[in-house]
Amino acid sequence: MRHLMSPLDFTVEELDQLLDLAQDIEANPKKYAHACDGKKLATLFYEPSTRTRLSHEAAMLNLGGSVLGFSSADSSSASKGESVSDTIRTVSCYADICAMRHPKEGAPMVACQHSSIPVINAGDGGHQHPTQTLTDLLTIRNVKGRLNNLTIGLCGDLKFGRTVHSLINALVRYENIRFILISPEELRLPEYIRHDVLDRNNIEYKEEVRLEDAMPELDILYMTRVQKERFFNEEDYVRMKDFYILDKEKMKLAPKDMYVLHPLPRVNEISVDVDDDPRAAYFRQVQYGVYVRMALILTLLDIHVD
Ligand code: NCD
Repeated sequence: MRHLMSPLDFTVEELDQLLDLAQDIEANPKKYAHACDGKKLATLFYEPSTRTRLSHEAAMLNLGGSVLGFSSADSSSASKGESVSDTIRTVSCYADICAMRHPKEGAPMVACQHSSIPVINAGDGGHQHPTQTLTDLLTIRNVKGRLNNLTIGLCGDLKFGRTVHSLINALVRYENIRFILISPEELRLPEYIRHDVLDRNNIEYKEEVRLEDAMPELDILYMTRVQKERFFNEEDYVRMKDFYILDKEKMKLAPKDMYVLHPLPRVNEISVDVDDDPRAAYFRQVQYGVYVRMALILTLLDIHVD
């Protein structure tokens, strides 16, 4: 049985196959409409979510399956003190596959050790968010036509942003990837990722504080929200939250074929006047998230459609 804890759980070849499958699903949705008839997906969300939970659910519904679950720890027996391992043993009796989001790093990993159904990590604390990474890879491949030879700017909360951590892990396996890490000093990418992932793989990168300085060099700009819920005090959050605001003026500094991605939700870091720019790809990214999660569910359930 396979789970998805990190993007590295798939080889690059397997990832290519999964993205190809997502592309085929986009082109031929009817072909897949009954692929999961009779199957159930459980969504176990101990932390707030809009896109990740609903796109997993939409993905299973599009495949003909059904869904059940909870959307906050308060409405589950976690509030009575139940452990993740007991919850997953229970859910294994109800569903064929599950997606779990949890504020604690490693909670989905604990779950998969006690589970008899595939577990998808839908975000664990500040650690990883592999299904967002699949979404990001599919989006980049679609807008740029490739996953190699790219300069990628990662901007915002690089310290706590799990989408950034997962995306870096996945992208270093492609050829000629260069990163520009754009953040305030206090929200720099953690050292363990700089050293263990970037340096160890000989990946070229530089750190910048000013977004304007990086813009002209970028193929992709990946904006992120300052992760309010991971700050130890409100004061620091308030000081950091509007550090970056991408607006029409800054977009003028970017190449014509530089695309803007954002895992969403956005707060203030992208001004709404950027939304009409053809280079704003963040709502397309949401749509790709459904196709890629359909492909993931089929892959983990080992369902093949001819
Ligand atoms: C992200 C997350 O939850 O990590 N959202 C998402 O899943 N698309 C990013 C964020 O919350 O800032």
